[in-house]
Amino acid sequence: MGDLLANKTILVMGVANRRSIAWGCAQVMQEQGAKLIYTYQNERLKKSLLKLTGDEDALLECDVSSDESIAKTFEELKKRYGKLDGIVHAIAYAPKEELDGEITNATREGFKTAMDISAYSLLAVGKEVTRLELLNDPASLVTLTYMGSTRAIPSYNTMGIAKAALESTVRYLARDLGKFGIRVNAISAGAIKTLAVTGIKGHSDLLEISKERTVDQKAVTIREVGGMCAFLMSDLATGVIGDVIYVDKGVHLI
Ligand SMILES: NC(=O)c1ccc[n+]([C@@H]2O[C@H](COP(=O)([O-])OP(=O)(O)OC[C@H]3O[C@@H](n4cnc5c(N)ncnc54)[C@H](O)[C@@H]3O)[C@@H](O)[C@H]2O)c1
Repeated sequence: MGDLLANKTILVMGVANRRSIAWGCAQVMQEQGAKLIYTYQNERLKKSLLKLTGDEDALLECDVSSDESIAKTFEELKKRYGKLDGIVHAIAYAPKEELDGEITNATREGFKTAMDISAYSLLAVGKEVTRLELLNDPASLVTLTYMGSTRAIPSYNTMGIAKAALESTVRYLARDLGKFGIRVNAISAGAIKTLAVTGIKGHSDLLEISKERTVDQKAVTIREVGGMCAFLMSDLATGVIGDVIYVDKGVHLI
């Protein structure tokens, strides 16, 4: 326990289950004194989230594929909480066929979906917080990325392109939200076995190779990613802006 995030109210988007990176972030932030609110994609995921948090009042639905859903959710957040101190965006999706074989298998529709859910959704969140003046000064917006943005990782394909777009979105948003005291950054996490990863063809090999390439051959954990997230949410990080910070136990070095 600590008080790094005492008096901070933080929205966590993207907890699907106890393996989710967003759940690792939530746990560490809560231990550091943050009050947390969560959004879930649909009713099915609400049930799973409720089992973890036990507090229905702190859950709101938000499907980022829909502008109406995003607007409704953020308007409700404004009504209920006034202002927040941070948002964790841990959301990505690409159709399974995009995450298999060679990049030339990509389709226009699959590409659009991956970009929409995995990159545009961060911009949509940035637009809503600006429109509604939802965040305090200072505040922090953190998203999750992967090194498939800068390297050609087997089967990651369209999602790698979407992550490159996401990281660029971080930089543009950081520039334009900075004047409101909102910092925008990405954490580039190492490979972790989550629901999203199981959509990638050959994910067992990806996880195994990633583990072997860490400095101590132990995979990074969701709590280790959560530690960086808590730091970025805290006022210790007011100088960190528009950055991509690796939390992968050195895999990107080797
Ligand atoms: N697991 C890894 O190895 C790894 C590594 C680096 C980065 N990441 C990133 O971390 C983030 C979280 O993924 P995870 O690995 O914890 O998997 P996860 O499956 O636990 O989380 C993905 C979340 O995205 C949400 N989502 C998908 N489509 C949505 C929509 N239309 N509206 C709202 N929410 C939607 C899902 O509901 C789910 O909660 C993703 O951005 C992922 O790319 C994961």
